[in-house]
Amino acid sequence: MPRRSYAYARVRYGPPVAPVRPALPLTGLPPGPRCAPLLQAALWNRRAQWLLGQCARRFGDTFTLRIAGQGTWVVISHPRDVETAFKADPEIARAGEGNRILEPLVGPHSVLVLDGRAHLRERRLMLPAFHGARMASYRELIAGIARAEIDRWPRGEPQRLRPRMQALTLEVILHAVLGVSDPARREELRRALRRLLAMGTDPRWGAVFVTLGSEHLERFGPFRRVRDPVDRLIYAEIAERRGEDRDGVDGDGRADIMSMLLSARHEDGSPMSDAELRDELVTLLVAGHETTANALAWAAERLARHPAMLARLAEEARAGGESAYVSAVVQETLRLRPVISIVQRVLAEPFSVAGYELPAGTVLVPALYLVNRRADVYPDPERFDPERFLGRPPGTYTWIPFGGGVRRCLGAAFAQFEMETVLHELAARAHIAPVRAGSEPVLRRAVTETPRHDAEVLIS
Ligand code: HEM
Repeated sequence: MPRRSYAYARVRYGPPVAPVRPALPLTGLPPGPRCAPLLQAALWNRRAQWLLGQCARRFGDTFTLRIAGQGTWVVISHPRDVETAFKADPEIARAGEGNRILEPLVGPHSVLVLDGRAHLRERRLMLPAFHGARMASYRELIAGIARAEIDRWPRGEPQRLRPRMQALTLEVILHAVLGVSDPARREELRRALRRLLAMGTDPRWGAVFVTLGSEHLERFGPFRRVRDPVDRLIYAEIAERRGEDRDGVDGDGRADIMSMLLSARHEDGSPMSDAELRDELVTLLVAGHETTANALAWAAERLARHPAMLARLAEEARAGGESAYVSAVVQETLRLRPVISIVQRVLAEPFSVAGYELPAGTVLVPALYLVNRRADVYPDPERFDPERFLGRPPGTYTWIPFGGGVRRCLGAAFAQFEMETVLHELAARAHIAPVRAGSEPVLRRAVTETPRHDAEVLIS
């Protein structure tokens, strides 16, 4: 079947970056709600997890959503089908195409927006920097930043921990990813990055991205005024590091991710270009900051309501060495409160899954929110119970908060390690209690699912 054409959209609006995907005819597709695509889009943008839950109850493991402007989604949640999707040929099941809307921000070389061979080429270059074995080298750095932040938190009055976790994870990223040593440049970057990263959770910016597309966004002054200062600072840092490398000063001694990328080589022996490096660094900042901050906020929201678990974490932290319980707490938080609800693969060719032959142009959507709370895998799935992971590692296709296959989150080991380290420090240094009765509901901010009251707690 030929690829779908978006010609009509081009004639009317000029070349869109995130192509307007027309809905496909429903014949031969799984069942789904029959309400208008505009209404489905509105529900998706406001209450994505509720919509997924309702559809799963009504239609089962596989259903079709038609989201205005984003085409026809076939949502899957059976582990067998998720495995099929994650093992699909990456030239056919294309995640980069689904992320294309981010291109003005992360750039055309970003691992997030590439597909097929080009994607694998970039990903291979970046993988060694995120290998699990490297994580221990970040322990002291992350623990030090966490201690300093937590000790600054005011005691005895209600505090919203989400913004505080954002500050903490930004500091970790500035040090671990960029390794900026000059305090003045670090402060400038901190300020510029805060503005850039805030775009990711501001629905008004989301609307600007969708409406303008990258061609027009490139020329949109307010966007350039947020993005360009970050680029200027990152390019300055790259130039300085390349200079250090040439002079043999310090270049090899650094443990940050940027240094690893500077010395990485493509298969033909060539290093990353400045533009490539800039794009991957911004990608890591965008993909790694808000996600980890929200996951930490959710962990705090859950733990504040489970004092016995908090006490057990504190005990483990003080004993040192062991980290089995904190790992289980992190895994359970990401299972029950995933910060991202779905991943996407845009089909470039017809593809068979869940008993359906899906036409090219369909967006295949493994719903990690639904997979992570399947009652046949997780008895009493709504219960927050870290014990279910003690001595039982999560399954590759039944616990998927980081997606899967060749697109699985590059920073998964880093994020889990960071969360474990921060939660140990938190439990050992402070006690948190909920400010209001009952769990915090989920509030969708752009693409991330956050605690509605920003994980408001009383710290003592
Ligand atoms: C709790 C925190 C995090 C969560 C829940 C999360 C989740 C995800 C998810 C769901 C994907 C898409 C996977 C797919 O399509 O199958 C992804 C991709 C990605 N994440 Fe994360 N992430 C987190 C933290 C991080 C961190 C700390 C970094 C880096 C410092 C990072 C870097 C990336 C990158 C580069 C990709 C694109 C991978 C590719 O397309 O090959 N993430 N993440």
